[in-house]
Amino acid sequence: MPGRLEGKVAIITGGASGFGAATSKRFAQEGCKVLICDLNESGAQDVASKLDAECKKSSEGGAARGFKMNVCERDDWAAAVKACVDNWGRVDVCVNNAGTSYKNKVGLELCLLPFIIPGILSLLRIYAYHVFMLPFEGFPLKSMT
Ligand SMILES: NC(=O)c1ccc[n+]([C@@H]2O[C@H](COP(=O)([O-])OP(=O)(O)OC[C@H]3O[C@@H](n4cnc5c(N)ncnc54)[C@H](O)[C@@H]3O)[C@@H](O)[C@H]2O)c1
Repeated sequence: MPGRLEGKVAIITGGASGFGAATSKRFAQEGCKVLICDLNESGAQDVASKLDAECKKSSEGGAARGFKMNVCERDDWAAAVKACVDNWGRVDVCVNNAGTSYKNKVGLELCLLPFIIPGILSLLRIYAYHVFMLPFEGFPLKSMT
């Protein structure tokens, strides 16, 4: 049975760990070609090479590649889109998941800074994504920011 994402191409940011790595795995298992983007280049390459090897053993048509990217940089968005188009001819989906959070702490030990930094990063990643991707001709039909 063909995968539900066979023939689709996705950019997944923050794909070196956590939700992004899990999402990349699920997408690849469903036949999607996934560009796994992360500041952590070696982490992204590790996740991608494992997934790509699994994809080659299955017949769903999935594939994965790792890519170094800072989601706050417009030029990195341009480079990620170019990598998808060069490798697979298109971009259909973007899961803009990269981000950071404060470490778990007892409530009374929290200060303001760990709230502010993830918030600013979220704004920058959404800004850079929209400024670059909205005018892009092949703007992903499905985007989760
Ligand atoms: N885990 C939770 O409970 C939780 C709750 C609410 C929201 N979130 C959000 O969900 C997302 C994923 O969370 P997670 O728990 O999987 O985190 P995680 O730390 O496991 O993974 C985040 C990934 O994003 C990458 N990253 C960070 N900044 C980046 C940047 N500027 N450019 C590119 N890559 C960058 C990191 O290198 C890391 O690999 C984050 O945006 C987080 O804020 C998580």
